[in-house]
Amino acid sequence: MCLFKKLSAGLLLGAVLSAGCTMIGNNNSKEISESFKPGELWLDSDSVHINAHGGGLLYHEGTYYWYGEHKTSGRGGNTSLLGLRCYSSEDLYNWKNEGIALASVDDPESEITHGCVMERPKVIYNATTKQFVMWFHLELKGQGYAAARTALAVSDTPTGPFTYVKSTRVNANVWPLDASQVMKSHSGETKYDWWTPEWRKEVEDGLFVALNFKEGQMSRDMTLFVDDDGTAYHIHSAEENLTLHISELTPDYKDFTGKWIRVAPGGHNEAPAVFKHQDKYYMITSGCTGWDPNEARLMVADSMMGPWKYMGNPCQGKDAELTFHSQSTYILPVAGKKDAFIFMGDRWMPRNPIDGRYIWLPVIFENNLPVIKWYDQWDLSFFDKEI
Ligand code: DGJ
Repeated sequence: MCLFKKLSAGLLLGAVLSAGCTMIGNNNSKEISESFKPGELWLDSDSVHINAHGGGLLYHEGTYYWYGEHKTSGRGGNTSLLGLRCYSSEDLYNWKNEGIALASVDDPESEITHGCVMERPKVIYNATTKQFVMWFHLELKGQGYAAARTALAVSDTPTGPFTYVKSTRVNANVWPLDASQVMKSHSGETKYDWWTPEWRKEVEDGLFVALNFKEGQMSRDMTLFVDDDGTAYHIHSAEENLTLHISELTPDYKDFTGKWIRVAPGGHNEAPAVFKHQDKYYMITSGCTGWDPNEARLMVADSMMGPWKYMGNPCQGKDAELTFHSQSTYILPVAGKKDAFIFMGDRWMPRNPIDGRYIWLPVIFENNLPVIKWYDQWDLSFFDKEI
């Protein structure tokens, strides 16, 4: 059963100022929450609906940080008018607005000028450099989704402000670990029409890897994963979203080592989210249907460098074939709880992006495989129960 305590806040004016533009809230009172309610408005400490879409979480020194896309109202609300936002929380239910972590800028010459697309930010902490390292999907202003770049920003504090460093295509002039001779000798050009069986075979064999070899591989939907030994990986949709790539990051997390693999060539996976449980690596992805939800896919591997095996849809129950009307963005290991993971998804609202909702659901294990079921309301005591 859910418990609520009413707290008076009266901070609406402050919220308007800090949001910088349109926002969604209810009134000037804030409820302290003690449960998750997937799909409902989720108010922050300013009584404003949390604005951190396509997000990722970082747990650092007892505090959770939630980074995500700041969306605005109406058409155009998916382009970046302010940047990437950060919230903090001690309990995962109640979130304090920490403002814009990485700001888009006025300068039309900048890669992150207002109107570019900044998506799916993920932040990891590097214990050696003591830096917070953010990677995110960047599309250059006015180019739709053609640029397909990943971008780097760093900060000495978790809430920022982050300093923008660069954007890049990935693994230029490096073949994947599993590259075949067919791939290496491919011209990168095809005589076949898209979507024909012959073209699909060429894609599987590495048509787009060869095409993008010199410039570097595309990078759209992405996530980061740090393994127990501190090695970090950048996982991203490449090859026109047809194939996932997993690339090892350098020890400072600010570049690529050149060690990379392809996953599910031609399989059309987006929205990767990775976690590790009992020495197995799990990845949940979606198919590619724009802002519309589709069926999630589960993959499992013994190593981040694969091979990855497709295990079907991890969702069960009503609307499981639509990932409960959401798309994966991150899977959070809950600090201090054993075998406790939270699936985080976005319920996109393309006509009014700022109204996008968050679908956070517990991951349970059945027959040694992760399963996600719908709960209207749940709390962290879920993980203390015998299932
Ligand atoms: C689906 C992706 O997962 C989102 O992050 C976004 O890039 C949209 N496609 C754009 O259509």
